[in-house]
Amino acid sequence: MPALFQPFTLKDVTLRNRIAVPPMCQYSAIDGLVNDWHLVHLAGLARGGAGLVIVEATAVSPEGRITPNCTGLWNDVQAQALMPAVEAIKAAGAVPGIQIGHAGRKASANRPWDGDDHIPEGDARCWQTIAPSAIPFGANLPKVPKAMTPDDIARVRSDFKAAALRARDAGFRWLELHFAHGYLGQSFFSTHSNQRDDAYGGNLENRCRFLLETLDAVREVWPENLPLTARFGVIEYDGRDDETLAESVELAKQLKSHGLDLLNVSIGFSTPTARIPWAPGFLAPIAERVRRESGLPVASAWGFDDPEIAQGAVADEQLDLVMIGRAHLANPHWPYAAARKLGVERAAWMLPAPYAHWLQSYGGGS
Ligand SMILES: Cc1cc2nc3c(=O)[nH]c(=O)nc-3n(C[C@H](O)[C@H](O)[C@H](O)COP(=O)(O)O)c2cc1C
Repeated sequence: MPALFQPFTLKDVTLRNRIAVPPMCQYSAIDGLVNDWHLVHLAGLARGGAGLVIVEATAVSPEGRITPNCTGLWNDVQAQALMPAVEAIKAAGAVPGIQIGHAGRKASANRPWDGDDHIPEGDARCWQTIAPSAIPFGANLPKVPKAMTPDDIARVRSDFKAAALRARDAGFRWLELHFAHGYLGQSFFSTHSNQRDDAYGGNLENRCRFLLETLDAVREVWPENLPLTARFGVIEYDGRDDETLAESVELAKQLKSHGLDLLNVSIGFSTPTARIPWAPGFLAPIAERVRRESGLPVASAWGFDDPEIAQGAVADEQLDLVMIGRAHLANPHWPYAAARKLGVERAAWMLPAPYAHWLQSYGGGS
């Protein structure tokens, strides 16, 4: 069996293979509530054969949403609305995960297909954004955030804790803290966005503080036997990559010592002037370094959708899990297609019997 299709066990959770659906915002919620769109979307992805399906970046507070149409977990009704999706993912044989986060200075934006920019001041849908410092992201997101007070920091930390508790009670078995992509966690780490002169800014120890304290708060409520993971941008592609990577490895070690179980290695997206060298699987060597130096299992995304590349990253022990995003939107049965390409026997039986029975002898078999 190719490495990509070997099971993966973390704590008490075993994934049927190394393929994960990363969180992908649908920008289709109202009042933070998931609806039939999300249910069908998530159930379809789980049916396609991935081992893990992670629900999109779900805000821990209303002001933590990227757009007015992002999902939330700041109240119990939102948690209840997620339960059918949790059950559908489980019923299809995948493990249900969720990413919880706060969008920080990138919040209060229009949906990607409505401009992907900050909602203009004066529009009733916009809200005050918060961040470590009153520094805007720039480009399409020029809104100046309010610098967070110590009270704001404490409140967001307890919002993360409350959302984690709701995720647990909704039945999720895998939690990912969104500390990546220029959102709040990442922006405390990055000097592009953090120019504080208190205990949460300045040296590396201070810039890690918000992330570690938030992890600690979540660790108090998230069950010990279930994976507690984070997504973090270990590199910015801003010309200071050696320094950022070294600091990121140090953060990864710290996160591990505070009880993190796996790091989803991504890009910082803290500055609009980054020059990202997009190429298939280009983060694999970087993730491998984080894995080797921190001792944490790692996942990564961005262009692993060629099955040979995904297989190679796992076989070469660069990644423990491969995240397949847009290719899953193009074909929710991507794992089945990859299994066929890699010559897995009886690949059709990765799908539920009402499909598998017919596909085992269709289009060349298996
Ligand atoms: C529609 C869409 C929504 C996304 N939403 C999120 C999100 O909620 N959280 C996150 O960490 N990344 C998000 N991403 C990034 C994906 O998780 C993933 O990293 C990205 O699509 C690259 O992987 P791929 O090359 O396999 O598509 C999103 C990407 C897409 C295409």
